[in-house]
Amino acid sequence: MPMEYFFYLLPPLFFVLFTCHAFLSSIIMKHSPKPAKNCEKGQEISLPLGRTGWPVIGETLDYLSKIQSGTLENFVTDRMNKYSSKVFKTSLIGQPMAILCGPEGNKFLFSNEKKLVQVWFPGWSNKIFPKSHDVSNNEDFINIRRMLPLFLKADSLQKYVGIMDLVMKQHLQKNWDGDHVEVCLVVRKYTLALACRLFLSIDDPREVEKLAKPIEDIVAGIFSGFPINLPGTALNRAIKASKEIRASIDSIVKQRMADLTEKIVSPVQDILSHMLLTVDENGQFLNIVDISSHLLGLIFSGYSTLNGTLTFVMKYLAELPHVYDEVLREQMAVASSKKWPDLLGWEDLRKMRYSWNVASEVLRLTPPGFGAFREALTDFTYAGYKVPKGWKLHWIAHATHMNPEYFPNPEKFDPSRFERNQPAPYTYVPFGGGPRMCPGNEYARLAILVFIHNVVTKFRWEKVIPNERVFNDPLPRPGHGLPIRLHRHDFAVSESIF
Ligand SMILES: *[C@@H]1O[C@H](CO)[C@@H](O)[C@H](O)[C@H]1NC(C)=O
Repeated sequence: MPMEYFFYLLPPLFFVLFTCHAFLSSIIMKHSPKPAKNCEKGQEISLPLGRTGWPVIGETLDYLSKIQSGTLENFVTDRMNKYSSKVFKTSLIGQPMAILCGPEGNKFLFSNEKKLVQVWFPGWSNKIFPKSHDVSNNEDFINIRRMLPLFLKADSLQKYVGIMDLVMKQHLQKNWDGDHVEVCLVVRKYTLALACRLFLSIDDPREVEKLAKPIEDIVAGIFSGFPINLPGTALNRAIKASKEIRASIDSIVKQRMADLTEKIVSPVQDILSHMLLTVDENGQFLNIVDISSHLLGLIFSGYSTLNGTLTFVMKYLAELPHVYDEVLREQMAVASSKKWPDLLGWEDLRKMRYSWNVASEVLRLTPPGFGAFREALTDFTYAGYKVPKGWKLHWIAHATHMNPEYFPNPEKFDPSRFERNQPAPYTYVPFGGGPRMCPGNEYARLAILVFIHNVVTKFRWEKVIPNERVFNDPLPRPGHGLPIRLHRHDFAVSESIF
């Protein structure tokens, strides 16, 4: 379900919700998680060490408070020091859980999908994003999920670089024309406009705006921490908003299907057309209803996470002039190799190595999600400990991203660490890995580079509030939306033609 994308990206939100939910259901059903048996007859394999904390709530509160203080890695290292450097036991969201530590843990989870483990998401999410809201069956649904990387891989996205550049240039002209902008606000507009254009060819700003409101309602529903569906609650509004958007996406999809059949639109105009014209390995077209659901998920997650990365790119570039200068130098070289007003192309992005190192460093320090969950499909042994079937497993990006063993001086923003060597395998995991890696990673890369190119070649900027605090609620966000003062370069080319 679309849910899965952003569940991967925003797990802790659900922790709040699910803790309440699990708490209530445990009272109602007089049921509490059963402790797994400690040892089998004959062979003495014990469960991982660790504490399961309070009934139902487990260690969720400590986990959340570490998120709030932006030090989730400490949740892991504290326990690694106490119990084992490989794996420990805890209880989060009312679930017995093993946290696998370090690159070995990541590797294990990423490479055992559907063998020993499978992706797991809390169940209430189906309310906002019902699994099949129509005739579709589960098989078709999973089928599309499997094919998503096909639509979002580099080969498929290459041809859209020019369109992305155009969307960005129009966005700059419309929203960055004064001396000040509030970064959080404007990058959200860009990420939404971009997703609407690339996935559905919606480019009328009024149409894009119409989607903004219901999407915000969905976000609010997820953030609300009050998972009760009654008139007036945020969850209730989110469910309505989701219905509303799915209805409009459905009608776009059906119209497009008709237009493609009559050959009155180009088959390569966007990702929707690509999906509609693709057949699976049995020669079947993909189910239209499922296509709409997946599109909502993609637009939603593209919009609500990329904005964070772009915000922090802007923040670090304001704070670190030497990094900014290096990015500017690289981007000016790209700009001067182009004949104005040609748009950026795939080849240009390949020259943006340093800029990508900067973005990679942002993704290391503020990954778009905290990690994700799996469920044990069977009993298995990991690092000498037994993980019982049904237990949940969790990997946490910060645990390796902030470990000085893999990233010396981990607090420091240092793009050059990606220049010297590639990070060791499975230590750098902003998008996860394995078959369930976030399929949007390449889309994100293109969108980020196009953004950096345009902003840096046009402006230098400084923070209006020098010591603006960052809040983690739960993803990091500058407390005042990162207002900045813009200074246009003298040499900035006029883009009035767009
Ligand atoms: C990004 O967008 C989401 C969804 O609207 C919002 O919750 C989050 O705070 C935004 N992040 C930043 C850094 O503005």
